[in-house]
Amino acid sequence: MSAEPLEIYLEEQDLGRALRDDVRAGLTADPKWLPPKWFYDARGSELFEEITRLPEYYPTRAERAVLAAHAPDIAAVTGAKTLVELGSGSSEKTRLLLDAFTRRGGLGTFVPLDVSVSALRQSTDRIAADYPGLRVRGIVGDFTRHLDRMPTGGRRLVVFLGGTIGNLLPEERAGFLAAMRNGLETGDWLLVGTDLVKDPGVVVPAYDDAAGVTAEFNRNVLRVVNRELGADFDPEAFEHVALWDPEREWIEMRLRARRPQRVRVLDLVVDFATGEDLRTEVSAKFRPTGIAAELTGAGFVAEHFWTDPKGLFGVTLARAA
Ligand SMILES: C[S@@+](CC[C@H](N)C(=O)[O-])C[C@H]1O[C@@H](n2cnc3c(N)ncnc32)[C@H](O)[C@@H]1O
Repeated sequence: MSAEPLEIYLEEQDLGRALRDDVRAGLTADPKWLPPKWFYDARGSELFEEITRLPEYYPTRAERAVLAAHAPDIAAVTGAKTLVELGSGSSEKTRLLLDAFTRRGGLGTFVPLDVSVSALRQSTDRIAADYPGLRVRGIVGDFTRHLDRMPTGGRRLVVFLGGTIGNLLPEERAGFLAAMRNGLETGDWLLVGTDLVKDPGVVVPAYDDAAGVTAEFNRNVLRVVNRELGADFDPEAFEHVALWDPEREWIEMRLRARRPQRVRVLDLVVDFATGEDLRTEVSAKFRPTGIAAELTGAGFVAEHFWTDPKGLFGVTLARAA
């Protein structure tokens, strides 16, 4: 079966408007910031896939190990008819779940949702080809805005992998989990992958690799703003920085101005002093008790929590209560 045409909740003009709003808010703030969803044009999605294969980037391998060990349990416990994946990217690890559901029988529909049209096109075509009995409905959407449009009917399992939930700030995360609970029926399931708090000597290199792929990924947001909004950022004039914040237990990716510069974007003139930072991503690391408490607070019951053998990454299976 071929994948169904992508359902577009984010038209080009919505994307443009959202990018303009974020650029205006973030580049006039002090300190300056941009949200991470704008990394992911076609090139950004490719760079992220490259990151997942880097020797320093343990999260993908660790999460894959958890899924490899527990996908059959997840299929058996949830008995899902519909699998929704948020921020699905290539959906490579999700294949472990699709395999387990295929062996068990009963899963009818797979619904990956992502802001990246290019990533979705590739993943839906490949998955539809490899899982012939499965209905594949890709959705171009924003998981901070479109959870109310999740497909209904039949037991649902929503998966949110890659530690992407850690890219939301704590208050955004609470809003996201509440909206997620609101979009589900009692008895539906949420599977969420969270990177765990650990030695910064392990975490920081995962966001600052020796080959410089993460640096390229980070600068890609400036290329997106240049192309989409006609800005004149010089990406090479910014240094990639990954900082561990021990209080908030998160990594911040930043772009640091190597020299004073003036950027024109929209009707704004944005000045950077030497050494001034633009925050481009937060990646929170979690403790098992913390993630369970956040889920409980949003109306879920965390039924299972698994980690890889080294305890690097956690995956929680929670039921909507
Ligand atoms: C860190 S990557 C994880 C990809 C994949 N789930 C994995 O585990 O390897 C984040 C993914 O979420 C998507 N994304 C980021 N922000 C988003 C948003 N607000 N709404 C929908 N997708 C988003 C990106 O395009 C990217 O595919």
